[in-house]
Amino acid sequence: MASVTVTYMVKMLTKSHSHMIHSKMTKIVTRLPLLHLFLLLSTTFTATASSSAYPSVPTDCTVSTGDEKLVPVRREVYDDGRIFDISHRYTPDIPSWGNNDGLGQFLWLPASMKNGSLANNSEMKMPTHSGTHVDAPGHMIDRYFDAGFDVDTLDLEVLNGPALLVDVPRDKNITAEVMESLKIPEGVRRVLFRTLNTDRRLMYTREYDSSYVGFTTDGARWLVKNTDIKLVGIDFLSVATSDHLVSAHLEFFESREIILVEGLKLDDVPVGLYSVHCLPLRLLGAEGSPIRCILIK
Ligand SMILES: *[C@@H]1O[C@H](CO)[C@@H](O)[C@H](O)[C@H]1NC(C)=O
Ligand SMILES: *[C@@H]1O[C@H](CO)[C@@H](O)[C@H](O)[C@H]1NC(C)=O
Ligand SMILES: *[C@@H]1O[C@H](CO)[C@@H](O)[C@H](O)[C@H]1NC(C)=O
Repeated sequence: MASVTVTYMVKMLTKSHSHMIHSKMTKIVTRLPLLHLFLLLSTTFTATASSSAYPSVPTDCTVSTGDEKLVPVRREVYDDGRIFDISHRYTPDIPSWGNNDGLGQFLWLPASMKNGSLANNSEMKMPTHSGTHVDAPGHMIDRYFDAGFDVDTLDLEVLNGPALLVDVPRDKNITAEVMESLKIPEGVRRVLFRTLNTDRRLMYTREYDSSYVGFTTDGARWLVKNTDIKLVGIDFLSVATSDHLVSAHLEFFESREIILVEGLKLDDVPVGLYSVHCLPLRLLGAEGSPIRCILIK
């Protein structure tokens, strides 16, 4: 009971509704034993400290005076391990479906300041199912494609909310038997499956490797029939193994309720419960889209 109250307080604090907190606090404080009061006050303290309007700027990214080198910071984790970036960076060397040359050059600078333009303006061109991406039901079901079930129609509620990151056994594809053994609790609606693909660093390998791990048809069917999972995330370019490519996708797509996010970067993220946030581009008519996904502790 008390811990629920503390969680609620933290939520309130992070929203910085300070006046509401005060009245809530006086009410709660009178009912709480001393230990809980202490807990409450210490959470109040840290939450306030980390949400100051102007956090201190690390010394390695102070404003340049023009002399020193400008070095951008590239991160995988933000806010001391609270936010994980689980999208891969797009580079010419990320793997591309079914070919060994990788994504290749996808970015150009047709207008550049070095060539006298007012600004640098890049252009890009890549398959919509490149890197970390989402599939819409029209990807493999033509009548859904024709009816317009594109990435713009995907439910942002499914793509954002509590999610479980799980490790699957490394010696098998995701079969019905494996799904059953994972014992994913009823009510869990979003699951990211970390597989042997992560250990083999397949998303960091330019050559496309068809021996990646994914769902078999019976594994996909088991998930659809026996769980509440609506968001399926996986760590290579396809949720389905190469020899069940179409049939396993179809199991997922048929109801139009399940969203598939593929090519996730799940390295170095502890298993557990997170809040996932995935946002596809609003590409009208496209059955796939690059997607930015993050996990928040
Ligand atoms: C400048 O323009 C030339 C000719 O159009 C082009 O070949 C070159 O790549 C451009 N350079 C940059 C940096 O944009
Ligand atoms: C792009 O713009 C910056 C200034 O913002 C300029 O310094 C740089 O040379 C430009 N890059 C190219 C390739 O023209
Ligand atoms: C998963 O299936 C693929 C395609 O059939 C196969 O090449 C691969 O060895 C399987 N992986 C495991 C761990 O069984």
